[in-house]
Amino acid sequence: MYGPTNLPKGGTFRKVTVPEIRDRKTHGPSIAMVTAYDFTMARLMDEAGADIVLVGDSLGMVVQGLANTLPVTVDEVCYHGRAVSRALRRAHLVGDMPFMSFQVSPAQAIENAGKMMKEGAFESVKLEGGVEVAEHVAKMVAVGIPVMGHVGLAPQRVHALGGFRVQGKTEDAADRIVADAIALEQAGAYSIVLEAMPAEVASRVTGAVSIPTIGIGAGRGCDGQVLVSTDLLGLTQGHAPKFVKRFAELGEAVIAATRAYVDEVRAGTFPAREHEYATSAERATVPPAIAR
Ligand code: KIV
Repeated sequence: MYGPTNLPKGGTFRKVTVPEIRDRKTHGPSIAMVTAYDFTMARLMDEAGADIVLVGDSLGMVVQGLANTLPVTVDEVCYHGRAVSRALRRAHLVGDMPFMSFQVSPAQAIENAGKMMKEGAFESVKLEGGVEVAEHVAKMVAVGIPVMGHVGLAPQRVHALGGFRVQGKTEDAADRIVADAIALEQAGAYSIVLEAMPAEVASRVTGAVSIPTIGIGAGRGCDGQVLVSTDLLGLTQGHAPKFVKRFAELGEAVIAATRAYVDEVRAGTFPAREHEYATSAERATVPPAIAR
């Protein structure tokens, strides 16, 4: 439907669905969500068993090198969504609604979410905000768009907040996060990302709603976790938030491999004979493995 893929044929695969994600709240196991922005990474994440792959608007920072997510567009998210969708056999695909693609009105939110599902191949959408977008979420859900909420630190509010800051540290602020989550649940959201808040507040939210919470910098009391793929793989350089665990150091591996390639090119040892094509005449005299 969304064009050819280069996935190997065969095997039976069943996609993770919205009702299954909702059901994890009561029956587990904990939801493992990651971000991905391209086919190759998405394929590996899917093979590794991630339940949900998010094409986050973090693509502005991770892929485009921007200082924040604000300039990301619906068309850009759709472009990455199509690439990622071709890789996923099992994981559910969520697309992040960019800044000002849903805040203006419920009609604008429906139109852009619809475009993301039609042109980005997304199976659901995520949007930042709580009480103030609850009406938008309700109308989206009513027309068949599954919505994942996102409360606590909303990176699209970076300027209003004065930076990427931990939220919910005071009792009032924590109460507001709980109220936001309840408003999203009542509007019909099927899950909620809880970003950058004290673990105690996230546990309170998790206990207050009957839909799964997926934490990032929100501690152990959530129903699932999400990390940005470049962070968990150790590809990110420079400062990382406290909540990031690097499960590998692929950045170092990439530098080492590329350095080895550069050295071999300069030394003339790559390509070697086995990397060269042969003429028909040569093929008759060299072993088939080399003549390919
Ligand atoms: O944009 C993103 O990657 C996100 C996750 C960090 C949840 O919103």
